Amino acid sequence: MRRVAILISGRGSNMTALIDAAAADSFPAEIALVISNRPDAPGLATAKAAGVATLVIESKPFGPDRAGFETVLQAALDEHHIELICLGGFMRLFTAEFVRRWYGRMLNIHPSLLPSFPGLDPHGQALRAGVKISGATVHFVIPETDAGPIVMQGAVPVADDDTPDTLAARVLAIEHKIYPQALRLLATDGVRIEGDVCRTSAGGAPCDDLISPTLI
Ligand code: GAR
Repeated sequence: MRRVAILISGRGSNMTALIDAAAADSFPAEIALVISNRPDAPGLATAKAAGVATLVIESKPFGPDRAGFETVLQAALDEHHIELICLGGFMRLFTAEFVRRWYGRMLNIHPSLLPSFPGLDPHGQALRAGVKISGATVHFVIPETDAGPIVMQGAVPVADDDTPDTLAARVLAIEHKIYPQALRLLATDGVRIEGDVCRTSAGGAPCDDLISPTLI
């Protein structure tokens, strides 16, 4: 049973999906701790209600001192014997040193089919680019933002009348499906990083073509 910390800054719906999945006896990881860098993150109450230990480590007082924040963060992770980290809408960048220390043991989820549309406003970026399919990506964290070996992706169609909000809602449903599965793969040693690429023990999808717009 691998001990996992989830780092959040806000709503924490991906955190909830991970907590729910980990509640099953057969799940190979335990959500041992939820840490928020913001005291007002709504996800904190959700985690508490689910019986998960929570911690607030405010990043604001550290200002640009990322290493100072990470010293406190690392001490908390050590104290709780955390082996794996899942970022769930954690809106704070790490130093390269912290990322290197957790390389291969820290996952992030981003609401686009990376390497397309990293960074802010991914849904606006997708709509402006006119893509017909978007999705979500679970990847290992590297110093570059929203990049790193890809563990799992899920795709959704983009509709002509989508707004960033309607597309975000469709992608979020996929996020909640793939994040627990990606964590399961990592926790069962079903992933292998080869250079910039992650290989997994899971097979590809059984040819469920997603074509958008629909063929007529
Ligand atoms: C999610 O859509 C996640 O993919 C995104 O923030 C949202 C957090 O929602 N993350 C990023 O954009 C990372 N660059 P949640 O708090 O409900 O999980």
